[in-house]
Amino acid sequence: MVILGIETSCDETAAAVVEDGKNVLSEAIASSANLHTKTGGIIPENAAREQIKSMIPVINEALSFIHNPSSIDAVAVTIGPGLIGSLLVGVETAKTLGFLWEKPIIPVNHLVAHLYANWIEDDPQFPAVGLVVSGGHTDLVYIKDHGEIKWLGGTMDDAAGECFDKCARLLGLPYPGGPAIEREAAKFKIKNNKLMTYPRPMINQDNFDFSFSGLKTAVQNNLKIKHPAAEVQEAIVDALVVKSLKAIEKYKPKSFIVSGGVAANARLREKLQIKIKNLYIPKPKYCTDNAVMVATAGYYINKPTHWSKITADPNLFLK
Ligand code: KG4
Ligand code: ZN
Repeated sequence: MVILGIETSCDETAAAVVEDGKNVLSEAIASSANLHTKTGGIIPENAAREQIKSMIPVINEALSFIHNPSSIDAVAVTIGPGLIGSLLVGVETAKTLGFLWEKPIIPVNHLVAHLYANWIEDDPQFPAVGLVVSGGHTDLVYIKDHGEIKWLGGTMDDAAGECFDKCARLLGLPYPGGPAIEREAAKFKIKNNKLMTYPRPMINQDNFDFSFSGLKTAVQNNLKIKHPAAEVQEAIVDALVVKSLKAIEKYKPKSFIVSGGVAANARLREKLQIKIKNLYIPKPKYCTDNAVMVATAGYYINKPTHWSKITADPNLFLK
């Protein structure tokens, strides 16, 4: 089954053609991150305006090798969660193509797509426990089988990526904050995990929830320390690792899967790799927003829908 995936939930405009969830035939992506670096963060209207400009060139690039659109079996598109103006660009484009080509649309939850990034190049076994760590979400889930996802816990306030972004701003580092903090932290060799200046909120609580807004306040109140970027990274990574291990201990899954932009972080990858056996993390380009994961999720959770029944939903969740 050949699926055209479309992703526009945040500041990326991406399209990809994937066969049977794994064979990536083409992928194209345009990011407006440079624009947001200038404003220190995403201004939703700016993101959507850029996506309107990028959508057709990106689709054109992804389809350039295809001579006849009838070789596409379905269009998978992210319908939420995300920024409404951004989502609409992708959703309405998918609907137009579905209408013209007379093909079904597969609506995809962006967070489920992040989880399915692990199926692009691998085949994690079920049951799995998954950690989604992105700019807007931090969730732990139990996955019994394809499409059978139970929410275990998540952040009470800021997402892990949001915390990276906000702390980077406090430290005078550019947007997006995660990669900026990672680069800054890499200049400092971490010795014996002794970076304990900032708190790891909620790690001793017996649940699968997170809280990152206190960490941001702690950074604000205590900026003049040695290596603040490395300290921030270590605090966020520790909170994610501790709760992941708690979920593994309780649910004893056959695999543990991680995804979302923050999963591109080398320190998080390293710490998880040390502690977890059947660990799956996509390569960094499939951790951050992309359309291949949308096509792959569409293939595995295949719910073909007529274009007239598809609407963008900025508040979709995993619960
Ligand atoms: O999944 P994603 O690309 O978009 C959303 O769905 O939100 O995640 C973006 C988030 C941003 O907060 C960004 O700072 C963070 O992922 N991020 C990272 C890294 N790369 C991206 N955080 C830590 N380390 C990284 N290398
Ligand atoms: Zn995302």
